[in-house]
Amino acid sequence: MTAAPQDAWDFSDQVIVVTGGTRGIGLGIIRYLARAGAKLAVTGRKPARLEAAQEELDALGVDALFLASDVGDAEACRDVIARTAERFGRIDGLVANAQSLRPVTPLAEVTAKDVAVVFNTGPMGTLWLMQAVLPHMQAQGRGRIVTLGSAMGNTGAPGYGPYSAAKEAIRSLTRTAAREWGKFGITVNCVCPASVAHRMPPEDEGARATAFAAMYANQALGRDGDPEEDIAPTVGFLLSDASQYVTGQTLMVDGGGILRA
Ligand SMILES: NC(=O)c1ccc[n+]([C@@H]2O[C@H](COP(=O)([O-])OP(=O)(O)OC[C@H]3O[C@@H](n4cnc5c(N)ncnc54)[C@H](OP(=O)(O)O)[C@@H]3O)[C@@H](O)[C@H]2O)c1
Repeated sequence: MTAAPQDAWDFSDQVIVVTGGTRGIGLGIIRYLARAGAKLAVTGRKPARLEAAQEELDALGVDALFLASDVGDAEACRDVIARTAERFGRIDGLVANAQSLRPVTPLAEVTAKDVAVVFNTGPMGTLWLMQAVLPHMQAQGRGRIVTLGSAMGNTGAPGYGPYSAAKEAIRSLTRTAAREWGKFGITVNCVCPASVAHRMPPEDEGARATAFAAMYANQALGRDGDPEEDIAPTVGFLLSDASQYVTGQTLMVDGGGILRA
């Protein structure tokens, strides 16, 4: 018998790896997946953020593994996947979310270090994680991989040259992985947020309003995205069986911002 529609959103037997799950979008994703019953492996670098996220999930009774790991280190990426498989015995989903940034820099002044940081932690880290998780998903005959691009890759935002290029490289890897691994029951899709302004201090609402008024003028939904309410549900869809016939795609989760780019 065909499963009930709501069963597609039940993650209670699933193990999902979320890199960079201790802040911002990643933290919103682990909160969402925790509510959906998933078992989680969560990475980040700063111990205090890992501890805070662990305390939060422990209080909810979530079975979760927290690992300090730099996504720019290929061996560390492989270790995250190996330790997750060892702990839970399976891996159903990977959300390759972690990405380091560099200060806003005009293209004429970009250095080799600027490029190395965003490419090592962006497309290269994403690739090492995808490679490491492949045999586990292949053995299960099912897997879901979600990568993180950015609307900036499409809009060519001044000052963000290497970052935008790195996020577009992730989208390209996503398409190739989708084509090569579809035969194993693995789907690979990319989510592109535009502005998820969780780093703006909430107490400074005046500055926030000013900064965002221009950005959102004439934009369809006219506001920044919320990690848990706006971005995580789309990631959840791509991890679920509701998206089993969707692969190699980019979903712009940007409040319609791309429509005016
Ligand atoms: N926020 C936006 O408006 C926006 C828009 C488009 C796309 N995105 C994409 O969405 C993803 C999340 O963005 P965000 O704004 O939520 O980022 P964020 O607030 O800076 O949080 C990044 C998370 O990743 C971890 N992290 C950063 N560098 C890492 C590394 N080298 N190795 C392991 N963990 C690392 C951070 O923890 P530690 O610092 O402790 O390592 C943190 O948990 C990124 O891929 C980003 O490019 C964001």
